[in-house]
Amino acid sequence: MEKTKKYEELASQIGGLVEGENNTVGVLANVSSILHYTMGWWWTGFYLVGSDGWLYLGPFQGPLACSRIAHGRGVCGTSWAEGRTVVVPDVEQFPGHIACSCLSRSEIVVPVRDTDNEIVGVLDIDSRELNTFDATDATHLERIVALLKNLDYSHFKTLKH
Ligand code: SME
Repeated sequence: MEKTKKYEELASQIGGLVEGENNTVGVLANVSSILHYTMGWWWTGFYLVGSDGWLYLGPFQGPLACSRIAHGRGVCGTSWAEGRTVVVPDVEQFPGHIACSCLSRSEIVVPVRDTDNEIVGVLDIDSRELNTFDATDATHLERIVALLKNLDYSHFKTLKH
């Protein structure tokens, strides 16, 4: 199936998963799962903004990942600090890329915002192939994370180390 069509179906299914649901961890876990298994990526998950300038590992699908990432560090911390989607065609060309898995070759990170438009986390996706993600992925994933804005992120904002 064509990528755009897959994303349209995913958006519709994710809209259904979120509706009337207040279990944020459960919803993010299901969103990771449906994205991961529909698209066949290597790692798909969330890092969530804590209280102390760090992102904390949230629900994901895929191999073991680093448990926290500092503001401005790596692709995730850069996306958070700059408030924008970051597409990385080749992780070896991204200065400061954090290699949780040496098999990751390309990556996209999309900021997740709440109803106040504050960044509360990021959606991070890794691929084992180079050049997996482009502007089409960015547009569709931004639409998908916008469906998550009504969830309650207050628990994660208390995290610190
Ligand atoms: N590569 C990310 C770290 C998280 S792992 O990919 C799951 C980064 O540079 O921020």
